[in-house]
Amino acid sequence: MKVVGGSASVSLARGIAKDLSATLVDAASERHPGGFPDGERYVRLLAPVAGDHVVLVQTTHPDPMIVELFLLADAIRDGGADRITAVIPYYGYGRQDKRFLEGEAVSAKTIAKHVAVDCDELLTMAIPANPEILKTFPLPARDVSGMAAIGRYLKSVRVDALLAPDRGALRLVKEASVVAGVPFDFLEKKRIDSYTVKIEPKALAVEGKSVAIVDDVISTGGTIATAAKELRRQGARRVIAACVHGLFVDKAEANLKACDDVIATDTIQSKFTKVSVASEFAAAIRALG
Ligand code: R5P
Repeated sequence: MKVVGGSASVSLARGIAKDLSATLVDAASERHPGGFPDGERYVRLLAPVAGDHVVLVQTTHPDPMIVELFLLADAIRDGGADRITAVIPYYGYGRQDKRFLEGEAVSAKTIAKHVAVDCDELLTMAIPANPEILKTFPLPARDVSGMAAIGRYLKSVRVDALLAPDRGALRLVKEASVVAGVPFDFLEKKRIDSYTVKIEPKALAVEGKSVAIVDDVISTGGTIATAAKELRRQGARRVIAACVHGLFVDKAEANLKACDDVIATDTIQSKFTKVSVASEFAAAIRALG
């Protein structure tokens, strides 16, 4: 087995290769030796993959990383790989799983259709859409949980309780709480617009406690900031924000000042990446057989 990492996921690919005792195949990317002044992506595999089962790891965010994924998949297939497993740690364009208005693209499926051109199966993590969408993809696809990795980290920093900022995060928080060995609670969130959320008043048993708010994605940080303020108001001693995917857009950094610490996994590499989900993906790859 060989592992190739696109430039959005180099470090995670290295971790997956190590866990699987597989060879990491370096790939050159970004700049054509002759130079593409218009900014087009360039990829080149730096070792042969003929006859191999290749695991291709690449997050589809930001947009140029999608093109890079398709170029790498094509180069691997043309290089004679026997089987290609696409690992898309953060599935950018995974939010839209329905056609709300006539003429719209169902973007989660659009990406999958293109992945299926060269890849045989797909693994992702905490896809923003309803995971049921994976059953409609034109290749076998599975959503791998990263909650054990987050739970282990939160246990190591001794949190007393976990909080889901909305019902959508409840399933994830339940899973993390089993690993962290601490209780959980949840809030009811109402989204006003892309930047503003409101939460329903609710008494939480957090006085003097160290609490981690756990969510699938931190985007603008509005959800986390609102939940953090509520925790402080109710006397929490320490507030940690934990997410699988740290997008951190717009005023996220300012919003996250409401927290004592912020942790994200390596599905998207950022300065807040403190947890690796390499072993979760490696286990899922082994289970593919
Ligand atoms: C949606 O409800 C998701 O689970 C997240 O809570 C949401 O994407 C976070 O977005 P933001 O950081 O912009 O509040």
